[in-house]
Amino acid sequence: MKITHITSEFSPFAKAGGLGDVLHGLSKKQVEDGHHVSVILPKYDLIDIKVFDSIEIYIQDLWCYENGNEFHNTVYKATFEGVTIFLIDPDHLDYYFKRGTIYGTEIDSERFLYFSRAAVEFIRKENSSVDVVHLHDWPTAAVAPLVHNLFPEVKKLVGAIIFNIHNIEHQGKIPPKLLTRIGLFGASFLSKDLLMDPACDRTINLMKGAIIYADKVVTVSPSYAKEITTKEFGFGLEGTIKKLHKKLAGVLNGIETDTWNPEIDPNLTENFPVNSTFILDILRKKEANKKALLHSLKMEQSTSGPLVICITRIASQKGPKLILHAIEEVEKRGGSFILLGTICEKPLEKPFLALQEKYQDHKRIHLSFTFDDKLSHKLFAAADALFLPSKFEPCGLTQLISMRYATIPIVRKTGGLKDTVHDKNSAYPTGFVFEEQTEQAVDGVLEEVFSTFQENTPLWQKMMQNGLSRDASWKYPAQKYEKIYESSLHKKQVPQ
Ligand code: GLC
Repeated sequence: MKITHITSEFSPFAKAGGLGDVLHGLSKKQVEDGHHVSVILPKYDLIDIKVFDSIEIYIQDLWCYENGNEFHNTVYKATFEGVTIFLIDPDHLDYYFKRGTIYGTEIDSERFLYFSRAAVEFIRKENSSVDVVHLHDWPTAAVAPLVHNLFPEVKKLVGAIIFNIHNIEHQGKIPPKLLTRIGLFGASFLSKDLLMDPACDRTINLMKGAIIYADKVVTVSPSYAKEITTKEFGFGLEGTIKKLHKKLAGVLNGIETDTWNPEIDPNLTENFPVNSTFILDILRKKEANKKALLHSLKMEQSTSGPLVICITRIASQKGPKLILHAIEEVEKRGGSFILLGTICEKPLEKPFLALQEKYQDHKRIHLSFTFDDKLSHKLFAAADALFLPSKFEPCGLTQLISMRYATIPIVRKTGGLKDTVHDKNSAYPTGFVFEEQTEQAVDGVLEEVFSTFQENTPLWQKMMQNGLSRDASWKYPAQKYEKIYESSLHKKQVPQ
């Protein structure tokens, strides 16, 4: 099949979160499975082009309309681990992708609307048929209404449009005039059946547009697919999702198992097998990793408690209050805690910086507010447990990585966490699962974690082994996507 992903992220060179990892793992697997895969991405200035196996100018003169002007773009063709990547580089007066960041500018909507239109212009210029155009989250959502309403020639070239929801919280809510800038007359899309935001009749909702115009909508776990039909998790789009539920599916993400492979991971002090029969060897080598890590962070090993880690974006989605509470609680119980994550919301700075200050130079607690890929590999290998108390979690990737590194996840029962971690008291335990978003619930689960770690070594090791045996690769998810692509080519469900 010919598959074109249009995306704002691709790991490791253009990554802000899990979305980048998914694009990397899924597209690489699709290439291995024999598909013709290309990925269209903005040429951000932060991309270090040295990472590519090759890169060349592919098109010198791609023109893209915006707000009465035509802007010139260069398209580069690069290859990365077998995947073909087209990088769109606009000569734009507003330096759209030359701002040292993927997101977080005041004109993110304008930037990604422009990119969406430029990607469609690129497909038109290529003028060759594509089976599936696969879109990801709000930044590329406008592609679906653009193709459907403004580019009949592209509509003929494309077999089906798939839209992936990685996180329904961010929907791309914009004033209609921004849609008009890229050639879709905004006011004419302000109706309930089209792009009007359910909560505000003067606002365009891009994610809603993609849900309506795509042939299939996929989200990243079966539980999250159910959850987003409810008011609690749908962020206002539950009605639209419910109405169109026939074209919705939930496919669990995988992880890229060459990147996340303790057998060959170059960041580890000692590599260890991903094979549960060698559990004693694994334990010994994890211990060596722990020792080296603690030494490098000027920490000391706890004599009795586990080393708990939390690697996350610090945002309200991730349960920040419960993270703060767990750090204090683990400290009181004599365990160790390492937090690694960037603070994504201003109000969260104060409490997290205060706790960092409180535990400065502490021998068992360490808080680091940076993005550090190498350190994250070391943490997964060294830790005993991973803490993930998300309020909601479409899929979550760190619990999958942690199981592959024989680190036991402690998670809240929601979305993909619920689908991938089996509680200690279940038939095939792989972790600790708690339900309530309360400090008491965190205390309760930590009590179980500490008592199992200290008093029930056989069960602790069994959980490590079960987690290790789980196939978290892209093998099965890629097969599921293939089936979804095929069925959508046969059965179109968009309004005609
Ligand atoms: C988003 C979600 C996360 C998911 C990732 C990749 O970051 O919050 O749960 O794993 O996308 O799909």
